[in-house]
Amino acid sequence: MPLTQPVPAQPLAFRPLTVRGVTMRNRLWVAPMCQYSILKKDGVPEDWHLVHLGGLAAGGAGLVIAEASAVSPEGRITDQDTGIWNPEQADAWARIVRFHPRAGRPGRHPARARRPQGLDLARLGHRRPRRRPARHRPR
Ligand SMILES: Cc1cc2nc3c(=O)[nH]c(=O)nc-3n(C[C@H](O)[C@H](O)[C@H](O)COP(=O)(O)O)c2cc1C
Repeated sequence: MPLTQPVPAQPLAFRPLTVRGVTMRNRLWVAPMCQYSILKKDGVPEDWHLVHLGGLAAGGAGLVIAEASAVSPEGRITDQDTGIWNPEQADAWARIVRFHPRAGRPGRHPARARRPQGLDLARLGHRRPRRRPARHRPR
């Protein structure tokens, strides 16, 4: 009986992958997910996005792709979409991206949607899950 056991090969999912010079630490990646969560409707990602995306990155994903970010205000699916058409939005995204080097790689999904009927989230009953401390007062 050997004193040491053979080390099992690391599963492929946990091995790094380099794409065009960018190395992801593993192959467990998070696809973009629209949040429709900009309360101020100005396209500027909020603390919500830092926590949501940062949490996924901190959880171990090798790549986290941020949700669709409109390249123009009229290109949004809803007026609560994130945007990337002005410097204020770019700065807010930079704060989120700066967090990622400590965790997984950040990715982006630039978007330009057509909104033929205008998507009225309130009418559809959409509500973002409330995770902000101020909104979690016990009843
Ligand atoms: C709630 C939700 C929001 C999504 N938002 C986006 C988005 O913002 N941009 C995008 O490209 N895809 C979006 N998708 C599509 C997903 O990124 C993904 O392609 C789809 O869920 C299929 O993933 P799968 O092949 O891993 O099952 C969204 C999917 C879901 C379920």
